[in-house]
Amino acid sequence: MRKKIVAGNWKMNTTVADGVQLAKDLVAKLSEVPSDVNLVVAPPFTHLCPVAEALKGSRIALSAQNCADQPKGAYTGEVAANMLVSAGCAYTILGHSERRQYYGETSATLVSKLGLALENGLKPIYCVGEMLSERNEGRHFDVVKAQLEEVLFGLSADQMANVVIAYEPVWAIGTGVTATSDQAQEIHAFIRKVLASKFGALAEEITILYGGSCKPSNAAELFACKDIDGGLIGGASLKADDFIAIAKSY
Ligand code: PGA
Repeated sequence: MRKKIVAGNWKMNTTVADGVQLAKDLVAKLSEVPSDVNLVVAPPFTHLCPVAEALKGSRIALSAQNCADQPKGAYTGEVAANMLVSAGCAYTILGHSERRQYYGETSATLVSKLGLALENGLKPIYCVGEMLSERNEGRHFDVVKAQLEEVLFGLSADQMANVVIAYEPVWAIGTGVTATSDQAQEIHAFIRKVLASKFGALAEEITILYGGSCKPSNAAELFACKDIDGGLIGGASLKADDFIAIAKSY
């Protein structure tokens, strides 16, 4: 049985006080969510410690949105994987399309980040996904395959077992346009096939999330797909009711 995960990517939203309140609201509503659905929240770095405190004793796990590609030292403005662990994180998102697009993250950087995250016991939520132009040109399979091969194929099977994948078509992120469940299932199955070509049967155990304008009205249909094991939720994770409704619809 693959682990079901619904993760909230808060991106650069909320103040510390608002973020702590959101975490408390989620904890208060947690009993509505089936116990086999694992919830994760990824607040900004500044919020991690107080949000960890607010989540204490609940089954909501904490994630960062990024981590440094260096273990420590003179890298002003960066936050290292072991610091995230010490702040209470169990996960970190890596390779989000906004990091790739706006901050020039390459596969080489992501190999370092993933390695450091895993070394320190953080589970990476590794994001892949094509841009609209790439889909229109029919290149989405090739793009996603390259993102998987370049960053994950150097991992051992033991390391890979701790990686969660998030497929997020860039054209669906924050746009209100969601991939249809057929489009999403097609590429999730493809991702599993690519993983199987390197990791064999382990591919069946890997959790693959869908992300991109996932909301209470479309989550159930997406989560019903055979190869979709949950969601990475942006905008709709900022409202406790919506995030819980998405998790409940599983
Ligand atoms: P969205 O973002 O749900 O707001 O489209 C998803 C993401 O970027 O993780």
